[in-house]
Amino acid sequence: MTTGLFITFEGGDGSGKSTQLSLLVDWLEREGHSVLTTREPGGTELGDELREIVLHSKGHITPKSEALIYAADRAHHVATKVRPAIERGDIVVQDRYLDSSVAYQGVGRELGADEIRRISLWATDDLLPDLTVLLDLEESLGRERLDTSRTRFDRLEAEERDFHARVRSAYLALAEAEPIRFLVLDATRSVDSLAEEIRSRVSSLLS
Ligand code: TMP
Repeated sequence: MTTGLFITFEGGDGSGKSTQLSLLVDWLEREGHSVLTTREPGGTELGDELREIVLHSKGHITPKSEALIYAADRAHHVATKVRPAIERGDIVVQDRYLDSSVAYQGVGRELGADEIRRISLWATDDLLPDLTVLLDLEESLGRERLDTSRTRFDRLEAEERDFHARVRSAYLALAEAEPIRFLVLDATRSVDSLAEEIRSRVSSLLS
């Protein structure tokens, strides 16, 4: 039985999801909630090792292998950290989850959205978020933001523009298919107005 809340943040690289995630976590903690902040890939010791491999490995990683590394990370993360926290009644706020795999591996790498979703659901015993905040941003704007903030790009960030355009439309299609789970926000809006709208949606889930 799950009693807590599971909130995920999604969006293309440079969409500002990490900033919004931190603002939400600060607010939830000020309100007295017990919060687990975590991310994928990563979030566990094994996950940090897998993150380094999948994002920074020098050698080639085949698309299917890449998809399975993300799924392996997710299986371990959910079983050892996320699900126990939700069952304790915590609010889990997570940077990226299975929608990232569907968008990046399923559609970006063209492995098939349904296939990749099924693998992730199998890996997690069907755990879906209560709320997914999607920060939508045109891919070239995301790129500009990264260019000013990064000294090195990871394997996915380094992909060409078409890849990121596919990722963006995949996210929008996912949100359209599940309008209750997704809150889609225009990432070019001000940081404050985005944070306020996210807080308001989370408040309604808490009441
Ligand atoms: P981050 O920079 O937002 O932490 O994400 C790391 C990269 O990993 C980002 O480019 C998106 C990518 N990614 C996938 O391709 N598939 C996944 O399932 C996840 C969780 C992330």
